[in-house]
Amino acid sequence: MTSFTPERFIDASGEKIQKSELVMSFGAGRRKCPGYQIAQDILFLLTARLVQRFHVKQHPNHPITSLEPTLGFFLTVPNFKVLFEDRLNALFQKFYRIF
Ligand code: HEM
Repeated sequence: MTSFTPERFIDASGEKIQKSELVMSFGAGRRKCPGYQIAQDILFLLTARLVQRFHVKQHPNHPITSLEPTLGFFLTVPNFKVLFEDRLNALFQKFYRIF
């Protein structure tokens, strides 16, 4: 269960996200983080904005050799470097080349 398989959170119909009891980033039970909904909404918007604005690519000088997580107190991914290429800039350059 350490591989990156985000589809594990999608239900059998393939349309809805199903919550897992195993994910406890915000704690569990009566002391569960009361800010989890706003935190999840902000994280969703932030991630959506990043992938909307940038192409995320491997850094040519720092190839990613493994994304295998390490199981400790938390599950952590190894450090890696990536390039954020501005999608908007690339789009504008294409646009101005046409006109
Ligand atoms: C990514 C963001 C966040 C993460 C990962 C996170 C995680 C957690 C965790 C693990 C706990 C402890 C739960 C427990 O004791 O079982 C907690 C508690 C708490 N969090 Fe968050 N939290 C986040 C964002 C927020 C935000 C945005 C707010 C407020 C707007 C907030 C307010 C609180 C409060 C007040 C508690 C204490 C609850 C209590 O002791 O009853 N958190 N959080």
